[in-house]
Amino acid sequence: MKQFGKVAVLLGGSSTEREVSLMSGAGVLEALQGQGVDAHAFDPAEKPLSALKEEGFDRAFLILHGGQGEDGTIQGALEFMGIPYTGCGVMASAIGMDKWRTKLMWQAAGLPVPEYELLTAQSDFAAVAARLGLPLFVKPANGGSSVGVTKCKSAADIEAAYREAAKFDPLVLAEKAVLGGEYSCAVLDGRALATVKIEPATEFYDFDAKYFRDDTVYRCPGLLGIKEAEARQLAEQAFRVLGATGWARIDFLMDENDGIFLLEPNTAPGMTSHSLFPMCARDAGISYEELVVKILATTLSGAQ
Ligand SMILES: Nc1ncnc2c1ncn2[C@@H]1O[C@H](COP(=O)(O)OP(=O)(O)O)[C@@H](O)[C@H]1O
Ligand SMILES: [Mg+2]
Repeated sequence: MKQFGKVAVLLGGSSTEREVSLMSGAGVLEALQGQGVDAHAFDPAEKPLSALKEEGFDRAFLILHGGQGEDGTIQGALEFMGIPYTGCGVMASAIGMDKWRTKLMWQAAGLPVPEYELLTAQSDFAAVAARLGLPLFVKPANGGSSVGVTKCKSAADIEAAYREAAKFDPLVLAEKAVLGGEYSCAVLDGRALATVKIEPATEFYDFDAKYFRDDTVYRCPGLLGIKEAEARQLAEQAFRVLGATGWARIDFLMDENDGIFLLEPNTAPGMTSHSLFPMCARDAGISYEELVVKILATTLSGAQ
């Protein structure tokens, strides 16, 4: 593992998802060190990124979630310093944070996304409900962890849902509900590994289901036969159109007629022992330890 040189595992950070990142980062660090990689924890909340150069790091494994670790900001700083890093670059990270602009790109490439509209305080909410149908989902364009997301069962719910979402981003989307199942697909270096089906015990995959409850059921692979193949191919296309590199998870939904609709990309996937990406990798015959090395290897020149 000498080819990697001195590796910084960038973890923690100052976003609201700091705690999850610390857990993911601890797993990554242990797996790298266990395989003889000269890896060290580096928390950008504790010291400036410029210390990466001073401390002689050769490359970075980015396992920051949310905020500047996910939106292209830190990626830009690393580009500027000439330090190779795992995962998406500046553009794919930045666009991937914005649900509206991601949809615009996917739609332009002919990829299926749920029908949606942008909401403003002046929107005719009853007319929106009539066009998209009920229930519908209202969400901030820029967000995560289901924060600010509301499932509206009646037109009367939409105004309050809009105000809640607008607390997080002035750009708010109303989206047609796609209720035949929720899935994600891990993509490593442009290749889909497997899908996973997410079956929350709650009304939808909300904040509690993601972080507090342990009654969500995960099935991997999420689909069978040609449907699994179709979903993987779509995830690979979504990854490529976004301009993603290294690794990312593509979330998607299925309707009652087995139609697949892309939901959103996740350019900084979780890597705790029970995270979705390692689950999909295991299905593809890749252990957690092998996965972290494969992800790190995407930073070697000529890897992408
Ligand atoms: N159009 C939709 N149809 C069905 N469920 C949805 C839809 N949009 C969002 N959801 C539900 O809300 C959750 C959070 O929405 P999502 O768009 O993924 O935002 P976040 O970035 O906060 O994860 C999803 O995991 C899913 O359970
Ligand atoms: Mg999501």
